[in-house]
Amino acid sequence: MSYEKIIADNKAWIDEVWGKLDTKLSRTAVKSREKIPYTTFNGEHDDRQGDKITWWTNGFWGGLMWLMYAGTESEANKAEYKATADRAEILMDKAFEDLTKLHHDVGFMWHISSGASYQLTGNMASRNRDILGAMSLMSRYNVNGDFIRSWNGNKTGWTIIDCMMNIPQLYWASREIGDERFKSIAIHYADMAMRDHIRPDGSVNHIVSHDINDGSVIETFGGQGHCVGSTWSRGAAWALYGFILSYIHTKEERYLDTAKKVAHYFITNVMSTDWLPLCDFRAPEAPVYYDSTAGAIAACGLIEIAKNVPEFEKDIYLSAAIKMLKAMEKAWCNWDENEDAVLMMGTERYVNEDGVGKGGLHIPIIYGDYFFAEAMLKLRGSDFLPW
Ligand code: GLY
Repeated sequence: MSYEKIIADNKAWIDEVWGKLDTKLSRTAVKSREKIPYTTFNGEHDDRQGDKITWWTNGFWGGLMWLMYAGTESEANKAEYKATADRAEILMDKAFEDLTKLHHDVGFMWHISSGASYQLTGNMASRNRDILGAMSLMSRYNVNGDFIRSWNGNKTGWTIIDCMMNIPQLYWASREIGDERFKSIAIHYADMAMRDHIRPDGSVNHIVSHDINDGSVIETFGGQGHCVGSTWSRGAAWALYGFILSYIHTKEERYLDTAKKVAHYFITNVMSTDWLPLCDFRAPEAPVYYDSTAGAIAACGLIEIAKNVPEFEKDIYLSAAIKMLKAMEKAWCNWDENEDAVLMMGTERYVNEDGVGKGGLHIPIIYGDYFFAEAMLKLRGSDFLPW
């Protein structure tokens, strides 16, 4: 079936869900204007300012506001989204006060917030913040090891698949400043991730430890998944979306092939749980832990793959994205006005029986709302790509 026909067949649902997002988020935009939310407690957004201002997810709130700004048909709502996004950007300036506290997630923090502001409104102060983020990310490059270090402190050789979502900031900066070095480092990172993080079957190593002098692999870690060798679904989703973004920015076929390979693994696994993604695709049968954020991120990547493959291949990826979004909307979206978040059932990390890795289990997380809205905006036909 063609891309257009699949969208047409689902148009009523897409418009209904977008309408519910707009109604709920235009209200929350006003209510949470002085906050930088991460999750909710008793239905109320929390606030990651103060000593949490450099928290890696802090760009998603402003980013979510820009997605809604780009897609709403209401001029009144548009003004509210912009006001909240602008405010979030100012509040986040505190994070620049000590640059040594920044980390590799500067793309998550500024590219989808300030970068989106610049793309949509031409705000030059926003452009500057995004460029500062890109310069900070580039400064993490290890020349001998040929990778971007993900962690601060003594984990000098550790890389993480999540960084595939930060390197679009480098592709952008390269074009924006006219300096190929940013793009070159991004490509080196993507090639390392393709070689060391993606397994032959399309599953993903979350964390890899490298020799800092020659880049060789010392060890792989299970990271936020169940164990070494398992597949943490959000890591797979970061890879799926990250590689198609690298393809969009570079047109290098190997990144499209890698995105497809990870997508095939993801689709095969999520099909067997009624399109509701588990937190780890290789976890024991019980307990059953889900992660809605993995599904929302993967849906965005699948839609972008569908846009970039020949006509006869599009159906596989677009239909899978819609099935997953529909399943998650039915089971996990909360449209109640007494709950600030939309998408429930996010999981920070797999919780092992011994309590190791204890993290937020089945909670709303701001990037779940962000990627769910981004996926719905794409299905509405918008070409706005914040990454
Ligand atoms: N490591 C960032 C994440 O939880 O996806």
